[in-house]
Amino acid sequence: MTTSLAIPRVIGHRGAAGHAPENTLAGIRTAAAIGVKWVEFDVHLSLDGVPILMHDDTLERTSDGNGAVGNFSLATLKGLDAGKWFSDKFTGEGIPTLSEAIRLLASLCMGANVEIKPSPGREAATGHAVGRTLREEWPGDVPAPLVSSFAPAALAAIRDVAPMFQRGLLLSRIRRDWGTQMRALDCTTMHGNHRNLDRATVQEIRRAGYPVLCYTVNDRDRANTLFGWGVDAVISDHPDRIL
Ligand code: G3P
Ligand code: MG
Repeated sequence: MTTSLAIPRVIGHRGAAGHAPENTLAGIRTAAAIGVKWVEFDVHLSLDGVPILMHDDTLERTSDGNGAVGNFSLATLKGLDAGKWFSDKFTGEGIPTLSEAIRLLASLCMGANVEIKPSPGREAATGHAVGRTLREEWPGDVPAPLVSSFAPAALAAIRDVAPMFQRGLLLSRIRRDWGTQMRALDCTTMHGNHRNLDRATVQEIRRAGYPVLCYTVNDRDRANTLFGWGVDAVISDHPDRIL
C-alpha cells in the first residue's frame, strides 16, 4: 500500500538553511521552532554505505573536512564539524545519519521530503540504502516522507526497496516529456526550480493530477505568485518569511 501525503505549503530547505547550518539536526530543530511541519534535506552515502545528511559531493563548503564525501567512512565523517562554517554558535554540530534525523523528526512529529543526492556512480546504491533505512526505521505514527531525486536510478532503486513511500521527480527545468518521466518512475509529485517555472506549466502538471513543489523560494511575494499559479508547496531557506 502507498502512503498518503498531506504536503504543507511551506517546507524548510535543508532544514532551515537561512537560519542554521544546512542538513544538520540543529537545522531540523530550528525549522521546528520556526513552525514548519516538514523539512527537506539531502542524503548522501558514506564510504561504508551509511546514509548521511549532506548536499555537496565534497566536504569543504559545509564542514571542516576535505575531499569527496563518498571516500570517507561514517566514523571519519562523525569526527567533522558541520556547524562552525555557518556560525560559531553551531560549533560542534556534526554530520547526522539519516537514522538520527528520523529519530529527531519522530520526536518533533515532523514530516520530511528526503532528497536522495547520490555521489556520481552511486545512484542506485544510495537509493537502496535510503529505501531500506526509511522502510525499517520511519515510525508509523509520523507523517510518511516524500522521497525525491534528480537521479532516475535512485528513484528506481527506492521504488524497488520501499514502494510504500511516494516519490517526487526533481527537475531543474521541466522538459516537455515530463509526464513520460513521471510515469516511468511511478512518481506522484513534481519538484522544480521556481526560476524555471511558469503558470502554464504548473497548471498543466496539476491538471494531470500531480502536486507541484518548488525550490528555493525565499521571498514572500514570489511565494504568493507561485501559490497563485497553483503551486502546492514552496521549499525555503527562510520559511519564516512565508509562513
Ligand atoms: O529538493 C529541492 C532542492 O533541495 C533541490 O536542490 O540543490 O538544493 O538540493 P538542492
Ligand atoms: Mg535538496
